[in-house]
Amino acid sequence: MKELKKEDLQITELIHHFVREHVEAGDICIDATAGCGNDTLFLCELTGARGEVMAFDIQPQALEKTATLLAEHECMAELVLDSHSNMADYMSEGSAACIMFNFGYLPGADHKIETKAQTSIAAIKAGLSILRKGGIMTLCLYDGSDVQREEKKAILKMLKELDSKTYLVITSCYYNRPNNPPMPVFIQKLEGKDSSCIYGFGLV
Ligand SMILES: C[S@@+](CC[C@H](N)C(=O)[O-])C[C@H]1O[C@@H](n2cnc3c(N)ncnc32)[C@H](O)[C@@H]1O
Repeated sequence: MKELKKEDLQITELIHHFVREHVEAGDICIDATAGCGNDTLFLCELTGARGEVMAFDIQPQALEKTATLLAEHECMAELVLDSHSNMADYMSEGSAACIMFNFGYLPGADHKIETKAQTSIAAIKAGLSILRKGGIMTLCLYDGSDVQREEKKAILKMLKELDSKTYLVITSCYYNRPNNPPMPVFIQKLEGKDSSCIYGFGLV
């Protein structure tokens, strides 16, 4: 495992650090919230030319930003202008090694166009069925607005009720950081009964 630097302790870097431990070249991955494309690019770089990355967003401008970023890095992904709650229409069950969600709004755009509890929960449920055994899902939850607080509360409630023999769910927090920092959540679809093979938590 690579040594951590201070900049690695940003939440997105912490999540990337975890994903890097689990995703290999040739894997199938989903960025459920393309946004500016940073996570899509990250997944493309991990999975390589043999891999497959699909990215969802409901805003054309998000997919345009993502396409530009990918082109700058000579990477390819399938960009889907649709809600992540419909991801089961595009991916088969048990196929994905990793699904990433970074909730909230597109930076620099209308903040009212943001993820919402109902569609986010539908998307997480769809994503869990798309994950292969041993596959991982990461969530980045916010609570800076009423909509975000409602979403975070509803998602955490839903996760609490997931069967613990099928899914390992780890929530984390930046305990001593001010201003409601985002909350990373790590989920793994377990291989079978009694298995718990998650790793990569040396830093939290
Ligand atoms: C915080 S940004 C994602 C950041 C992105 N992962 C990155 O690396 O730049 C959240 C994105 O979720 C998108 N979004 C909101 N509701 C959505 C939905 N139902 N389905 C898919 N994307 C959605 C927003 O348009 C926004 O672009």
